[in-house]
Amino acid sequence: MEAKQAAGTEAARYVESGMKLGLGTGSTVYWTIRELGRRVREEGLRVEAVPTSLETEKLARQEGIPLIAPREVAGRLDLAIDGADEVDPALRLIKGGGGALLREKLIAANAERFIVTADSSKCVEKLGRFPLPVEVVPFAWEWTQRRLELLGGTSRLRLTKDSGEEPYRTDNGNYVLDCAFGEISDPAAMNRSLLEIPGVVENGLFIGLAERAVIGYTDGSTKTLR
Ligand code: A5P
Repeated sequence: MEAKQAAGTEAARYVESGMKLGLGTGSTVYWTIRELGRRVREEGLRVEAVPTSLETEKLARQEGIPLIAPREVAGRLDLAIDGADEVDPALRLIKGGGGALLREKLIAANAERFIVTADSSKCVEKLGRFPLPVEVVPFAWEWTQRRLELLGGTSRLRLTKDSGEEPYRTDNGNYVLDCAFGEISDPAAMNRSLLEIPGVVENGLFIGLAERAVIGYTDGSTKTLR
């Protein structure tokens, strides 16, 4: 069994009937959503979910998982499950490789519990090998890029996969700058510095949000880190 499938499927075990869920984006949480769809159809699992992307919305619909809008959630979501691009031993994350970081962070931050699910290749001692995605408004994005690089790194405007020339747009209509800062020694300080830059909408550092990580291995086993 593939590591992502093992992790994503195992993470679905934390879901109980009656929950309001946040559903993440990517190829690991894909398996979580598939498993939840199976439980909805075969076991009568009753959940309602807010998707973190249009891609996840489509998949959840195909799987027959009832969807709700954020305004329909009184208080907080019960549980959000999402993937990650890097996970450190303190369960700090880099996310946004798929461009869904803004909605992902909004949903993780507004859930009682947030569980991250990833294959073991995502586990790192220090964050920063994976370029940090930063969502910026298109207006004057070059100015924003200049300010970002003053923090000590280089950045690239993400382009669409299809033409490779057009800037990639997030589900919110913004651009993404993938920033290579090298090893991030103080992720909390970096998060604050990024958010102070005008034009930055959000960044892919998720700190103090994940309560546990369900990690999958190529032999199909999983381990839960807390
Ligand atoms: C989406 O924007 C990301 O945050 C994903 O959750 C992350 O890139 C993990 O994706 P995979 O599970 O596809 O590796």
